[in-house]
Amino acid sequence: MARLIKIKERHPVKITEEDVGKWICACGLSKAKPFCDGSHRACAAEVEEKTYVYAEDNTASEKKGGCGREGGCGCRRNE
Ligand code: FES
Repeated sequence: MARLIKIKERHPVKITEEDVGKWICACGLSKAKPFCDGSHRACAAEVEEKTYVYAEDNTASEKKGGCGREGGCGCRRNE
């Protein structure tokens, strides 16, 4: 599985000593980046060979198109 994530930030986020022990978001869906806020639960049902796009409320839809591979691979060759 893969997901297309819109990232608006253009700068790094400083991690302070108060942040030690917190979990860093690896799914890209957290509203509290760089920290995990539990939003990763929304991608638990993703299927390995498909690509997903998530709305602001973390509802998923399957991405179609791109290079024409089944399920869309997200490579943007045909955009
Ligand atoms: S890993 Fe992204 S919200 Fe938890």
